[in-house]
Amino acid sequence: MPGTYYMPGVNLIHRGALKDVGIWAHNIGGTKGLVVASMGSYGENQGKMVSDVLVKDGIQSVVYAGAGPNPTDTMVMNGVELYKDQTCDFLVAIGGGSAMDCAKGIGLIVSNGGTIDQYEGVGKATNDLPPFITVNTTAGTGSEVTSVAVLTESKTHHKMTIVDWRLTADVSVNDPELMLSMPPSLTAATGMDALSHAIEAYVCTIATALTDSLAYEAITLVYRWLPVAFEHGDNIAAREGMCHAAFLAGLAFNNSGLGYVHALSHPLTGKYGLPHGVLNAILMPAVMRWNSVLVGTRMAQIAVAMGVGHPWRTDRENAEKAITAVEDMNRRLKMPSGLAAMGVKESDIPALAEAALEELAARTNPRQAASAEQIQRLYLDSM
Ligand SMILES: [Fe+2]
Repeated sequence: MPGTYYMPGVNLIHRGALKDVGIWAHNIGGTKGLVVASMGSYGENQGKMVSDVLVKDGIQSVVYAGAGPNPTDTMVMNGVELYKDQTCDFLVAIGGGSAMDCAKGIGLIVSNGGTIDQYEGVGKATNDLPPFITVNTTAGTGSEVTSVAVLTESKTHHKMTIVDWRLTADVSVNDPELMLSMPPSLTAATGMDALSHAIEAYVCTIATALTDSLAYEAITLVYRWLPVAFEHGDNIAAREGMCHAAFLAGLAFNNSGLGYVHALSHPLTGKYGLPHGVLNAILMPAVMRWNSVLVGTRMAQIAVAMGVGHPWRTDRENAEKAITAVEDMNRRLKMPSGLAAMGVKESDIPALAEAALEELAARTNPRQAASAEQIQRLYLDSM
């Protein structure tokens, strides 16, 4: 169980944490920041919130509200141009995974040059990124703490996974007050993404004592707080609970690995542009059943973390309880009934299965498929 652990040096999780961004920008040596946010007026407003906080501490900034859902290499390069034109010296990302991944791409190119495709894979950067603060607004992706960026090649729609410890932010910020207005559908999707991170980290081939403890607690917190946050969005305790859940799950998978839920999910987003968290929610039961054959005891422990496992049952029975608890949660969160309901075509499954096997996340799944046909079966079971 060898362990090498990466995480931001400073992590703030509390109500009103956004107000501390200026102080931390000072602490990491920033004087003029590029604030990377989502596209549209929503992102512009979020970017302005950060700028207003920074200016109170005497720090200049420029807002780049240019990160679309599934950010592309083009969005990254536009941000790089603005960063250089405006002579910025640090980065702040505000939003969900898209804004953060886009900011990571911008930092990567600003410091290392070239184009994004050169960095696909693991550990290709040679220079440190500029000082970097992540302000999370969705409680799900874990991107605020991870050393991973998923960016899409504009021309081919290919999703490039870039893993590099240099992508890790210096400071991560989770302010539950920023999440009070998050709509129920986004709360559900990002919350289930967090759950998939925790479950995959817990059963993956390179889990360690540290990632186990992070993942286990994240699962418990999701089952305690996600339904409350979904049904009562203004419940600050639920939002704070989900901040911790997503944060812990992010740290867990960043320091272990993921599995087939993410490996099967990424090609679907690449092909159809479907939301990551919703896909993961739908794929999770089939992948958990597939993995249970080999890691039934771990799956039974997950049931206990969820509050549905009991010692008088066999591991197999408890594992099945964990799977049905995910299905129940999907229903409670009003997730689509399956991939078909989201417009996925059966005729596309053979190509999707081939792509899934190429995904980085597939490598750490505990039970490996012997053929692409077995992956096709998992897609079909999720239809
Ligand atoms: Fe994810």
